[in-house]
Amino acid sequence: MDGEPRTNVSNVLVIGMGCAGLRAAIAAHAAGCEVKIIGKRPWKDAHTVLAAGGINAALATVDAQDSWQQHFADTLREGYFLADPRMVEILAREAPAAILELADWGCPFARTPDGKIDQRFFGAHKYRRTCYVGDYTGRAILYTLADRVTQLGIPINDTQYVSQLLVEEGACAGALAFDLYTGRRTVHQADAVVLATGGGTRLWRRSSSRRDENTGDGLYLALRAGCALGNMEMVQFHPTGMVWPEEMAGTLVTEAVRGEGGRLYNNDHERFMERYDPVRMELSARDRVAMANYTEIAAGRGGPHGGVFLDITHRSKDYILEKLPRMYRLFMETELLDISRRPMEVAPTAHYTMGGVMVDPETHATTVSGLYAAGEVTNGLHGANRLGGNSLTETIVFGRRAGKDAARHSRTRSAQVRAKAEVDAALADLDVMLHEGDEMARPAQRELRVAMWNYAGVVRSRKLLEQGLEKVAELDAVLPRLDVRPTAEGYQDLAHALDLRASLLAARTVLLSAIARRESRGAHQRSDHPEQDPNLRVNFTVKLIDGELVMAEVDVPDVPEDLKEWETAGADVEPVEGRLLE
Ligand code: FUM
Repeated sequence: MDGEPRTNVSNVLVIGMGCAGLRAAIAAHAAGCEVKIIGKRPWKDAHTVLAAGGINAALATVDAQDSWQQHFADTLREGYFLADPRMVEILAREAPAAILELADWGCPFARTPDGKIDQRFFGAHKYRRTCYVGDYTGRAILYTLADRVTQLGIPINDTQYVSQLLVEEGACAGALAFDLYTGRRTVHQADAVVLATGGGTRLWRRSSSRRDENTGDGLYLALRAGCALGNMEMVQFHPTGMVWPEEMAGTLVTEAVRGEGGRLYNNDHERFMERYDPVRMELSARDRVAMANYTEIAAGRGGPHGGVFLDITHRSKDYILEKLPRMYRLFMETELLDISRRPMEVAPTAHYTMGGVMVDPETHATTVSGLYAAGEVTNGLHGANRLGGNSLTETIVFGRRAGKDAARHSRTRSAQVRAKAEVDAALADLDVMLHEGDEMARPAQRELRVAMWNYAGVVRSRKLLEQGLEKVAELDAVLPRLDVRPTAEGYQDLAHALDLRASLLAARTVLLSAIARRESRGAHQRSDHPEQDPNLRVNFTVKLIDGELVMAEVDVPDVPEDLKEWETAGADVEPVEGRLLE
């Protein structure tokens, strides 16, 4: 790396190349802005490509009784009433149009014989409302949006690691990034920034995220910029991740397997969901199925690799190849297992950061002027338990809203801020990180992941969470001793060091929030507080103030009057053909 940083100017800067980022960029472009998208993962390889089973919208193409109000009700109830009701309402209302728009743009959704968009069951939805493209829905949507971005000529740069947002006097003026290969630094100056970086579930040893994605870097950027994070204790453990071979452990085994009829068994060949949710069985809510799998394994009823069994062998190979082609190939390639003949062994895996940056439900503006956030990096939609399929919907509904309002914000500016002092500070911050040392970031990342799995996993307690904080403090001390230097591979050491720094701060927010929530609710299970506490229908928030993380408690807004009757509607689950009858 040499010379002064370059400056690159746009109206709206989008950080992140997943569906939320691309949808935001398309919206800002449609509103007349010069937009630029930057990210650290190869183009078309954002984490969204792993989103498998589907995207929700009450299209009522298969179950005619469905409605957006019922989608609202299911999302709110299954989130244990911690979600922002207005955000849930917007999602449910706008999802159908958003899906039809994607279909218009060429997304190849599976169709019913009469040509309508098909919908499959996903856990805890009253009706079939999950639209899908085989079991690679996220990839299909991402490619559709990427094609559109290309057609519109929106510039992208997929080798940019953002180290700081530039915030001057409470307003965001862009970001500082360096090129992962050349180290060249760029000041990305903008009137408005949309943060669409994903969450932080790569902080856990078993995770459905790949290396170097969802490392908590977006959460770190937001905290440093002055935003509050909310609900950080709410981490979704997906019930079914692969358990072996070791390098694949945690990889998602899509809920669509259960949506297509997959059954869970323990090592004693008991269909154990009968004991945990005899009505909804394998299509119970994610938190319940995850706890059931966890409990069976902890009780010693797991299989040879420490998992339970997910069995779809009663479906034909042709059916599986049509509906679950990626799952078929995944197990064949990695375990030489034909899932049409033998069950898969699976266990819970960290899957989704349900908390995140506090944003306005309408626009997804943060409290920092000009800074927006969309997708998994945000808080507000999922409460204590996300419904499968809602995350892809979130990316397109709120990506669009964030991009649109970022464009509106840009138009209100009469001049662009250069934030010189902030740029100098951000450059100095990078300089400080670059030095030789006696520690490497990778092993420290691994230690953190093991610690988060052991101390902030599916079941937590104050004692464990405090041990987690001690471990984070120990690893914080490693940061100044990291060996960070350019190599023939480029500036990967620097990216890993920054990821580690971000992960440690994000881990602290999870641990502190989990200590604060002295109850068990949804995905947050405390062995020392096993009951739900009705007084804790609040969001715990955390903010960085003078270098310290400061916690607060904020009330969850009330359900709008006109939706009150839907607050608990649908808790009764009737047998619907195709579900519960097998
Ligand atoms: O299991 C899955 O396919 C995951 C979907 C989701 O998390 O929304």
